[in-house]
Amino acid sequence: MVGRDAAAVHGADVFAALRPLLFRLDPERAHDLTIAALETGFGPRARTGDPILATTLAGLALPNPVGLAAGFDKDARVPGAMLRMGFGFVEVGTVTPRAQAGNPKPRVFRLVADAAVINRLGFNNGGVAAAVARLAANRAAGIVGVNIGANKDSTDRIADYVAAARAVQTVADYVTVNISSPNTPGLRGLQDPGELAALLAAVLDAATRPVFVKVAPDLDPAAIDGIARVALDGGVAGLIVSNTTLARPGIASAEAGGLSGAPLFGPSTDILRAFARATGRALPLIGVGGIASGADAYAKLRAGASAVQLYTGLVFHGPGLVGRIATDLAALLRRDGFAGVADAVGVDT
Ligand SMILES: Cc1cc2nc3c(=O)[nH]c(=O)nc-3n(C[C@H](O)[C@H](O)[C@H](O)COP(=O)(O)O)c2cc1C
Repeated sequence: MVGRDAAAVHGADVFAALRPLLFRLDPERAHDLTIAALETGFGPRARTGDPILATTLAGLALPNPVGLAAGFDKDARVPGAMLRMGFGFVEVGTVTPRAQAGNPKPRVFRLVADAAVINRLGFNNGGVAAAVARLAANRAAGIVGVNIGANKDSTDRIADYVAAARAVQTVADYVTVNISSPNTPGLRGLQDPGELAALLAAVLDAATRPVFVKVAPDLDPAAIDGIARVALDGGVAGLIVSNTTLARPGIASAEAGGLSGAPLFGPSTDILRAFARATGRALPLIGVGGIASGADAYAKLRAGASAVQLYTGLVFHGPGLVGRIATDLAALLRRDGFAGVADAVGVDT
């Protein structure tokens, strides 16, 4: 155990030392190197199993409610490494039925002063079959969800989601239907209630695992009510709120794509709270957007999230962030007299 603690401290130091070097690289190149390093087994380990953090999400037992958001490990290369880093669950993907290259580079931009990222990757991935083969060969010790999408050139998007949902069911603990990427033209149109109902009927018919639906933060109250109604009627396991935003709150960058990180925290938490109200808290919600501290994760729980996910926080704070969030979240729950995660969910809605 002493060795593990030492490794965790060492990991934080390594990131502090590496950050200036990583930030001199193109963001996508830095990410590819990070994945390659994690694939070789490099990476810190954190103990995030404080019993107060153990919780259940749509029937899935989690050691803690802090998950890795989709997009970090698109091709399911490092779910085990990310669980060892301390995440309570990991979502890989987005994978599409067929491999595709995504948009022209450069397509990921660091906004250092804003602690934010803009990306317009466009579902670059090696296809669902390759991801499934990797997951089958390396069963990770923990909950791994697979996020699925449609190919850009698909002529039948619903058929794409159904094919991907079928393909992942032997390796996925849950499936996320991603209808909120801003980087595949027209994809967000699937959030319209009529289209969403048809999509979900088809996917739920095909899927044998819990199905989550991941939504955009750029929704008006009528759209939120429509999605909530379809989700409640359709039998989905929960909603993931939210993906990146097309809005540019206080951001100078003119790059096209989805914005994530600190500026997304407020808007995505407002939308999360709106979904908690619209669903009457009858549906588990996963809160995502701009989480970079235990206090941020705690605010998402209080706004209605049963669990949270993050990605961009890792870019700016490194892998040690996961353990810090878990430790601080446990302390905040105890400070406020909660016996567990579930007791804090939605107290601020
Ligand atoms: C570079 C990048 C790639 C992403 N790719 C995906 C993706 O493939 N599928 C998806 O559902 N979300 C994707 N996301 C969105 C994240 O999962 C998350 O919803 C969003 O970034 C907000 O959380 P954050 O502020 O903690 O990053 C991506 C985000 C980033 C920054």
